[in-house]
Amino acid sequence: MEIIHLSAECYPIAKVGGLGDVVGALPKYQNKLGHFAKVVMPAYNTRFMQENEFEEVYNSWGNLGERAFHVRIKRELTNKLGFDLFVVHIDGLMDRDLVYGYPDDTERFLAYQIGVLDWINQWEHRPDVIHCHDHHTGLVPFMTANCEKYKSLNQIRTILTIHNAQYQGQFGWDKLHYLPAFDLWKAGLLGWKTAINPLASAIKCAWRVTTVSPSYLDEISHNANGLEGLLASERGKSAGILNGIDIEVWNTANDPMLDKCYTVRTVDSGKKANKEALCAVFNLDPKKPLFTFIGRLVGEKGADLLPDIFHNALAHSHGNINILVLGSGDPVVEARLSELNNWFQGNYNTYIGYNEKLSHQIYAGADFLLMPSRVEPCGLNQMYALRYGTVPIVRRIGGLRDTVVDIGDGGFGICHDQTSIWDVGHAIGRAYDLYQDKKRIKQIRKDMMQLDHSWDKAAQQYIDLYQM
Ligand code: ADP
Ligand code: GLC
Repeated sequence: MEIIHLSAECYPIAKVGGLGDVVGALPKYQNKLGHFAKVVMPAYNTRFMQENEFEEVYNSWGNLGERAFHVRIKRELTNKLGFDLFVVHIDGLMDRDLVYGYPDDTERFLAYQIGVLDWINQWEHRPDVIHCHDHHTGLVPFMTANCEKYKSLNQIRTILTIHNAQYQGQFGWDKLHYLPAFDLWKAGLLGWKTAINPLASAIKCAWRVTTVSPSYLDEISHNANGLEGLLASERGKSAGILNGIDIEVWNTANDPMLDKCYTVRTVDSGKKANKEALCAVFNLDPKKPLFTFIGRLVGEKGADLLPDIFHNALAHSHGNINILVLGSGDPVVEARLSELNNWFQGNYNTYIGYNEKLSHQIYAGADFLLMPSRVEPCGLNQMYALRYGTVPIVRRIGGLRDTVVDIGDGGFGICHDQTSIWDVGHAIGRAYDLYQDKKRIKQIRKDMMQLDHSWDKAAQQYIDLYQM
């Protein structure tokens, strides 16, 4: 089958979070199964774009209503990613340093979607599937099914994968004229409540809808930022497929970002060496258990509670634990987390910002990874932690519920029920006790590292879905 993945992110070209990781891996594993999966994404000014070679395959003009934009689509030449990569240059809209966060994001992602469809529209053949990821690509199912211009694309099956229903990309009806012409009586397929809503439109128009874990599929019928009713009514065409992780990129035996590589057999000495290196940089004591949080500092992740959780844990443990935070997001949370540096020097440190290499070093060097998420459609961090022998401490929600089993139930993680200061504090206490039981934690590390969270299973599940 020929599968076109459309996404705003794809690792290692541009990554903000887990969406990038998923789109950078799933097509590779689908190709291993004998299919032709490609990624077509926007071209931002990222390092990957500057350091790699591309050839132009399309050069034309598109329209956002009256406004014309110049589109150039280029193919990456080395094919080292394990899939064909196409990047969409749109002068004045995409050529920026960041993926999201601009006031004209609506125009940017709409121009990208129109540019891609204009391009596919003039191919001599048709792909079997267009697989759309999140709201940035959410108007594609509507446009292929309904826009006059794309009539020849209306037999292509479209799939929407919801990575996060909190973000929907809404914009006003005054921008309706940006879309290529269609019968206006179909406009209801674009909207939800009072706005055009790309995620809602894709839920209505895509041939199938998937979420990135089975538990998240259950949860969004009652918690989806206003789309609960719609998702419940489209449940019949929806499936929950648990994400995998790219075990070639996330491989302790051969990870160029680590200070020392290790295997299941050498996990104790390997983790010790990585922990010592990390602690030396961040002024921490490698003999104490090292807790970490890696991620976006936003309410969904429970990050607003972290300053109080850490303050309590550090104050009550009398200097017997270490905490290291890597993240960025809400400036108030960033400031409060940084402020703790002054109070708990030698036991606590933060790195505010995004740092891929450091994240690998922390997964390898830490003992425990905290994920007190309020919402977690899948979560990849806990799977990276498991693979790197780091015990995850997670709230039982979404994909965390589907991937982490509590040590009390014969598992390898520590689970709690609520995103609350008390629940997380209690979980940290349980982790501290586990750390004292050297024999047990050593065995748990070995067991965790042997769990299989690779993409093999999920890649096949998507293929089965397309083949239906
Ligand atoms: P989400 O996509 O909701 O942010 P996921 O758990 O699916 O959450 O994926 C987060 C990804 O982003 C992981 O690969 C994680 O290691 C990475 N990440 C998050 N914040 C940072 C950061 N500040 N520096 C480096 N990597 C980060
Ligand atoms: C989103 C979700 C996260 C998920 C990721 C990849 O960013 O917040 O839980 O792991 O997408 O699917």
